[in-house]
Amino acid sequence: MALSTVILAAGQGMRMHSDLPKVLHPLAGRPMLDYVIDCAQALGADATFVVHGHGAELVESAHSHRDVQWVLQAEQLGTGHAVAQAAPHVPDEHLVLVLCGDVPLIRAKTLRTLMKAAGTEGVGILTAELDDPTGYGRIVRDGRGRVVRIVEHKDAAADEREIREINTGLMAAPARLLKQWLGRLQNDNAQGEYYLTDVIAMAVETGVGVKPVVAPTPIEVMGVNDKAQLAELESECRRRNAEALMQRGATLADPMRIDIRGNISCGRDVFIDVDVVLEGEVELGDRVRIGPFNHIRDATIGADSEVYAHSWIESASIGAHCKVGPFARLRPAAVLDDDACVGNFVEVKKSVIGPGSKVNHLSYVGDSTLGKGVNVGAGTITCNYDGANKYRTIIGDGAFIGSGTQLVAPVEVGANATIGAGSTITENTPADELTVARARQTVVTGWQRPKKK
Ligand code: UD1
Ligand code: CA
Repeated sequence: MALSTVILAAGQGMRMHSDLPKVLHPLAGRPMLDYVIDCAQALGADATFVVHGHGAELVESAHSHRDVQWVLQAEQLGTGHAVAQAAPHVPDEHLVLVLCGDVPLIRAKTLRTLMKAAGTEGVGILTAELDDPTGYGRIVRDGRGRVVRIVEHKDAAADEREIREINTGLMAAPARLLKQWLGRLQNDNAQGEYYLTDVIAMAVETGVGVKPVVAPTPIEVMGVNDKAQLAELESECRRRNAEALMQRGATLADPMRIDIRGNISCGRDVFIDVDVVLEGEVELGDRVRIGPFNHIRDATIGADSEVYAHSWIESASIGAHCKVGPFARLRPAAVLDDDACVGNFVEVKKSVIGPGSKVNHLSYVGDSTLGKGVNVGAGTITCNYDGANKYRTIIGDGAFIGSGTQLVAPVEVGANATIGAGSTITENTPADELTVARARQTVVTGWQRPKKK
């Protein structure tokens, strides 16, 4: 049976107390809605409809790259009303699977069971047993255990509120039947809304079988209504992502103290210490060691390289056998060739640090190309910006830049040149020679310090 998924994502999410539409709140770096769309596509849905309303433009533009059909629910009149907005676009012979944009950790496997339960003629509802069912719709069963209806918490009688089996909000039903029921929904209830859940009683009335499927784990059907629940799911993502990285052989000092928000590839015998954030596309070669408190986004790090504590690495490429940090900042287009070292309080931007070159202490290297075996002394600054334009600094192989040097770009230091400490270099310096550009030291003998009057 062909499948249409309908993802409900129009709600405001009042309890998030946020200007961001609820389904755009990120989990491990990606909007919640993204996870649900992934799941629909993993099921091979023939069509995926996203019902949006609150913050519609933002929601749509955040997912403009996804292959989904957007359906506007201008006013949020309830979950039944939301599905009814998509219904006219769904062919009668499809099975409809209703998903929620704020139930992001649902697994395709569970949904396959739900779809199988619905079959071609019935309705499947996904339920869960909760210790505290407060707030959820309850599954009302008859004396023989058959589902009779779903009652919302706010409409439930005292004895119904005792029921611990809840509605997760996810269901599957043939489009042909669902459309008939949606047309008959009323809003004469505690919230004045058109409840999707009311179709269950209609199904039972018309003799259509309703099959409940109990979710294997409560976490996968957990909805996000507030920041505490968001944090709970984030914690689950953290656990899952760490687990996956360990499955691929990485050693983690503490799996609950690493945040993976992207795609990480890792070689053999990688070690990652505590409180590390990895984002985007990160590639770690064999035996890479990442020290504690590092933030790494969109980077490749070659085999046997080590990143010491408290470094920030973004859109950078690090070769093999490199040392970075502690307290280093590699900004976009920083490229370290093999065996390079970038030490503490060093910032590198749009520059190549050639093989075996070292910038070990307190430096800024921007818009520069360093050759092989260059040694940049402490406190060296490339002055790459004149307030309007940026210029390049080129340092030849084997050059030695004395401490506290300023290289005023555009400027070129020849191969094997030596620059005396404290120089301000404004013109190209010849290869193999010592260049010093600073005032000579003088001694004023007999000079007296001023005295207080
Ligand atoms: C709903 C279910 C409840 C279930 C709970 C599980 C109904 C009537 N109740 O209640 O049985 O236990 O989910 O989390 O279905 N939405 C729209 N348009 C609307 C209203 C809601 O798109 O007009 C979307 C929301 O953005 C959200 C989802 O539907 O993604 C659920 O809506 P919500 O208001 O959170 O429903 P609950 O009251 O939690
Ligand atoms: Ca909800």
